[in-house]
Amino acid sequence: MCYRFMLSIDDYCFSSIVPIYHDIDLNGLISLIYSFRAKRLSDMHFSIGIDELNKLLPELLYPGSMVVVAGHPGSGKTTLASTICYSNALRGHRCLYVSFQETREKLYRVMKNLGIDFYELEKKGLYVFIRIPIMKNVEEAVESINRAISSWNPKIVVIDSINTLLQVVESPDRRAWLQNYFYAIPDIIKGIAILVAELPMDIERVEIGSIEFVADVVLILKHRIERGLLTRYIEIRKARGVPVTLAEIPYTILTDKGIKVFVPPILSEVGRPGVELEPPCRSLKEVLDHIHMGHSIYIEYPADLRAVEAAPLILGIAFRNKLKTLIISYLYSPETMTELLLRVFKRFCSDVDKVRTILQKNVILKSMNPYAYSISEGLAKEYSLINEATADVIVFHSVEIPAIIEYRDPVYISSLYNQVNILKQKHKIVVRIASKINDELSNIFSVLSDIVMKFIPTENKQNYRLYIWRRGMRSFVLDNNEVNECLEEISKHLCIMDETS
Ligand SMILES: Nc1ncnc2c1ncn2[C@@H]1O[C@H](COP(=O)(O)OP(=O)(O)OP(=O)(O)O)[C@@H](O)[C@H]1O
Ligand SMILES: [Mg+2]
Repeated sequence: MCYRFMLSIDDYCFSSIVPIYHDIDLNGLISLIYSFRAKRLSDMHFSIGIDELNKLLPELLYPGSMVVVAGHPGSGKTTLASTICYSNALRGHRCLYVSFQETREKLYRVMKNLGIDFYELEKKGLYVFIRIPIMKNVEEAVESINRAISSWNPKIVVIDSINTLLQVVESPDRRAWLQNYFYAIPDIIKGIAILVAELPMDIERVEIGSIEFVADVVLILKHRIERGLLTRYIEIRKARGVPVTLAEIPYTILTDKGIKVFVPPILSEVGRPGVELEPPCRSLKEVLDHIHMGHSIYIEYPADLRAVEAAPLILGIAFRNKLKTLIISYLYSPETMTELLLRVFKRFCSDVDKVRTILQKNVILKSMNPYAYSISEGLAKEYSLINEATADVIVFHSVEIPAIIEYRDPVYISSLYNQVNILKQKHKIVVRIASKINDELSNIFSVLSDIVMKFIPTENKQNYRLYIWRRGMRSFVLDNNEVNECLEEISKHLCIMDETS
């Protein structure tokens, strides 16, 4: 019998990694395991296999870490365990995958579709899969795992899933022995053990003995239904020795890409505005004096009076200051948006081709159905459009559409505020254009903005006035003619702009 692995981390033997359960002194084993954990085996870290999580938690996995990946049925436990295994194997850390459920063929095929090529890893000698049929004799299962560990010396061992094994053990003593065996694996291999644990639907606690307390890292994968859409979250329940501020991180599983998480950027401070810009026309210059990069602007019109002037006014600021604009519309397709913009500009600049060329060069138009996404996925989609576009002015058009049903959700309001702050810090001008739904929503968007412009109909409803507030300053009113003069100035500026620049 060889116990040396418990006494010195450099002096273990593989031939009999764990003695059969009745020979073991459980208390002694547990305290020895804890003393190993207390001193980290080295400064080397393992990858989580997901870039965003590696950035967020760079020192999460170190040699000796025991990781529990728990989750609801079909939540992605096998995919996450395989992702960690795969990314580290690609860096030369051999991975042993022990499955009590799936066959080799099924696992390899499903993972291949998710961008994880176990066939290739196996050929390179970096990956070994063993399937152990569910059996009454747990000792035999443990012996099979031990044999694979000792003959192959992996740095990562995945056990998928531990429930299957624990379920066949009835006696509490033997269960405790088996759990302690799992706990010992990371130290034995001087690497990481990933224990997959199943959670019944609607339960979010790991109910597998004391495992949650002993593990170094506990990741819980959860399913939720939002507006009939499946949304997935990773909860970082525990990350020993690593500061965690974000408790729940949304993720999706994508063909060829595997697990993609979206870590919403959050600034602990309020973003600072950037350099001063010229307003687009004389009347707005008189009212606003100047605008800052990083300002947020809210433009609202009554639902029954769609003021097409809103977006052209903003484009006026962009053209005047040679800035690129991204318009994300929740209502119009890019083609409809182009036609509406041309209709306004051609009133004062008849060179439609020139206007079209300038729009094509300086304005990126995107449309998005907000109801195709959960709040967090929608936000992720917006950030990816913003990052791709590298524009200076970001216009969200018809924000009343997502807001109608989401504005009472605290997640929506906090994500809106975080988005304003992040974009302010990046010195983007953020513009939200909305039809007025109600006072509450109007006030929420106004509070989040540095400049508020509201089109308010005149008594006869034939015309409107534009009320403009700048945070901390008194309000101004422009009448219909003054707004038209402003649009004329913007359009004329367009007409003389150099379309090649
Ligand atoms: N090619 C694919 N493209 C997108 N999503 C996929 C693809 N293949 C699988 N999925 C998603 O991955 C999920 C299953 O992942 P996985 O098998 O890792 O879950 P699990 O938690 O291990 O499931 P189980 O409880 O059955 O063990 C499925 O719900 C499916 O939606
Ligand atoms: Mg699975």
